[in-house]
Amino acid sequence: VIIYKNISHLFTLLPMKERSLKNAATLEDCGYIPDASVWVDDSGTISWLGPSSALKPLPPHAQVIACQGETWIPGLIDGHTHMVFGGQRSLEMMQKRSGVSYLNIAKQGGGILSTVQMTRETSRDELFDLACQRVETSIRQGIKHLEIKSGYGLSFKTELMLLKIIRDLKLQFEDRVGISTTCLAAHAFPKDVSSDTYLKMVTEELIPEVASLRLAEFCDVFVEQNFFSVSQARNVLEAARHNGLKLKAHVDECTSLGGIGLAVELGAVSVDHCIAIQPSDVKVLANSNTTAVLLPMTSFVLQEGYAPAKNMIESGVRVALASDFNPGSSPSQNLWLAAQIGMIQYGLSPYQVLSALTYNAACSLAKEQKLGMIEVGMPAQQVTRLAYGDWQEMFYWIGQPIPVVEGKI
Ligand code: NIG
Ligand code: FE
Repeated sequence: VIIYKNISHLFTLLPMKERSLKNAATLEDCGYIPDASVWVDDSGTISWLGPSSALKPLPPHAQVIACQGETWIPGLIDGHTHMVFGGQRSLEMMQKRSGVSYLNIAKQGGGILSTVQMTRETSRDELFDLACQRVETSIRQGIKHLEIKSGYGLSFKTELMLLKIIRDLKLQFEDRVGISTTCLAAHAFPKDVSSDTYLKMVTEELIPEVASLRLAEFCDVFVEQNFFSVSQARNVLEAARHNGLKLKAHVDECTSLGGIGLAVELGAVSVDHCIAIQPSDVKVLANSNTTAVLLPMTSFVLQEGYAPAKNMIESGVRVALASDFNPGSSPSQNLWLAAQIGMIQYGLSPYQVLSALTYNAACSLAKEQKLGMIEVGMPAQQVTRLAYGDWQEMFYWIGQPIPVVEGKI
């Protein structure tokens, strides 16, 4: 066994599960143990954890590792990224600064479709290499699980290629970071075919193929003006559900069209963005088991408003936070910075942010049985170790490099 001793601050997040909390409100809700110790057996499984004062006598051959000055949290999860794409859209950053809206940039030929074009012009190998570098960047921040969406192919062939790239990433990184895959073929309508033809292809050919090849666990759709209407989104999500995929939806990013009602009706695991959410939809979400994944970096970049996170939490909506890393609305993988922007701009407490990055992020991927907390019986790999002697430093050093402690864990 290896005994990690005198961990200054340990957050198990276990009360979230034990007491079915929707969000953490206190230090206690985060399962906080000061001066903690953790036993890890030879198979790498956590076999005991608790306050150092309750430590049993150490077995004779135990290896002891002193962890003073460390803060341990459940393995960080970035539950919403669009990591596989070619090219970049730096011009849009300037257009946004001179007041052009996200939807108008898209209308003028920028936006998602311009990345689709650049992605189609990039070779499979180069797309894979770019994505590998991005996964490494996430790992350096202490991220232990990533969700990655397709959505810049927008044809039968290229969407499958992107999903296969994600499958290869999953194999390549399996010892270091978990990956959940989402098919977002319904990200936009491509220019080269009619919307009816595309919708038919996605629902009748692509989704069944993705499901039978087990290339994705989730199906997502962008419900927005000039993108997918609620009824088109219903077609996509119903086809996905029929084929055994779990559901997600990009909703109310710019406009509230009714995507939340649809997603909740169909039992979606998450609705993402919720910037323009209506008060009635806050209630709908609060009465559901669907997690709201809020994306503060996107709000920071677009400057078109922030989701009413505090109100949503107070109303009983489960809230997770993610980076939304993509080449347009969130060209940043810095999940910590996103979370810190969330804390400051949404007015959230560190407890709410911590649960949003761990247990609730696991809920947004239907993985709360396995991820998002620290408990006996789970792989020690699923822990993020940070060299912070004061846990508040997690929310203090804004956008600074993250002192992730490397080790067997
Ligand atoms: O979550 N809104 C749709 N998808 C992304 C943006 C994609 C892009 O602009 O390339 C988002 O914000
Ligand atoms: Fe997104």
